[in-house]
Amino acid sequence: MNPKLIATLILLTLAATAQAAPFANGDVAAGEKSFLKHDCTSCHIRIMGGDGSAIYTRENRKVKTPASLATQIQDCSTNLGLMLFEDEEENLAAYLNKKYYKFK
Ligand code: HEC
Repeated sequence: MNPKLIATLILLTLAATAQAAPFANGDVAAGEKSFLKHDCTSCHIRIMGGDGSAIYTRENRKVKTPASLATQIQDCSTNLGLMLFEDEEENLAAYLNKKYYKFK
């Protein structure tokens, strides 16, 4: 096969994988741990009551795409004064996506 065609096929495959599973590199279990460690529910409980998780499932929730989930996690962790590494943000996103948002 011609090398250009091979390169194109590889790129197409990568693009398809990226679309198939948002936060595919995120580790759900590690995300849950850092969610608990950083006390992510504290404000959400104050706002929504219960265990705070209604913030992710309320009708007018803010997050509507994987990209806005990533942005919101950054905003909230900045509010917390956290400096999260990118992989930790991705883990958090993977966890919240698996549990609540279920973006495919
Ligand atoms: C300082 C208070 C505070 C803390 C701590 C906090 N959040 Fe939030 N979070 C908010 C507020 C306020 C909103 C709602 C924003 C809105 O409706 O405009 C929100 C909303 C969210 C949403 C979007 C919910 C939706 O509408 O779809 C996500 C996701 C989220 N937070 C993740 C996190 C994570 C992950 C952490 C821990 C790293 C965290 N938050 C910690 C205040 C906080």
